[in-house]
Amino acid sequence: MLTDMNPADVEGDYRTQTLDLFGIGKRTVLVTDREVPYPDGRLIVSCTDPSGIITHCNRSFVAMSGYTREQLIGAPHSILRHPDMPAAAFKGLWDDITAGRIWHGYVKNLRRDGAYYWVYATVIPNVRDGRVVGYTSVRRKPSRRAIAEAMELYAQLRAAENAA
Ligand SMILES: Cc1cc2nc3c(=O)[nH]c(=O)nc-3n(C[C@H](O)[C@H](O)[C@H](O)COP(=O)(O)O)c2cc1C
Repeated sequence: MLTDMNPADVEGDYRTQTLDLFGIGKRTVLVTDREVPYPDGRLIVSCTDPSGIITHCNRSFVAMSGYTREQLIGAPHSILRHPDMPAAAFKGLWDDITAGRIWHGYVKNLRRDGAYYWVYATVIPNVRDGRVVGYTSVRRKPSRRAIAEAMELYAQLRAAENAA
């Protein structure tokens, strides 16, 4: 289950958007223009089951997301979905990882307080006895240049998705 975002959790002026999440349905998110920079020297790590439900996450993940560990474990990973992310990015991710391939990419994530943070993610399928039993994502700090390029590409992809 994923509840709508709560205005009481959000810092500053926000806009309201509705996401249509795979297997979940609609979620109202509250989005501000505040960026929280990726912390230097940290890895942000999470693991999921095969359907993308969070099973483990490290302290940096909890801190950056703004949610409590209890809220995160058992929640779908789309709890961090930012409306500026194009659907094509996540389609590419799932196409790769369900086929057993590693995926790398830049992701803009939405925090509980409405702010956002950019990560460079590597998502790895966890394979046991030839079967994918879950996934691990390890995130690093992206360069400002890579973020600027991803912003441009994602804006184009979103425009094409909205026009379709
Ligand atoms: C291991 C793993 C890590 C993920 N990390 C993120 C993430 O940090 N942010 C995000 O928006 N989606 C992440 N996803 C993708 C989500 O599961 C989901 O596909 C995405 O948020 C888009 O939502 P939708 O598939 O419901 O459209 C991750 C998936 C996996 C398997």
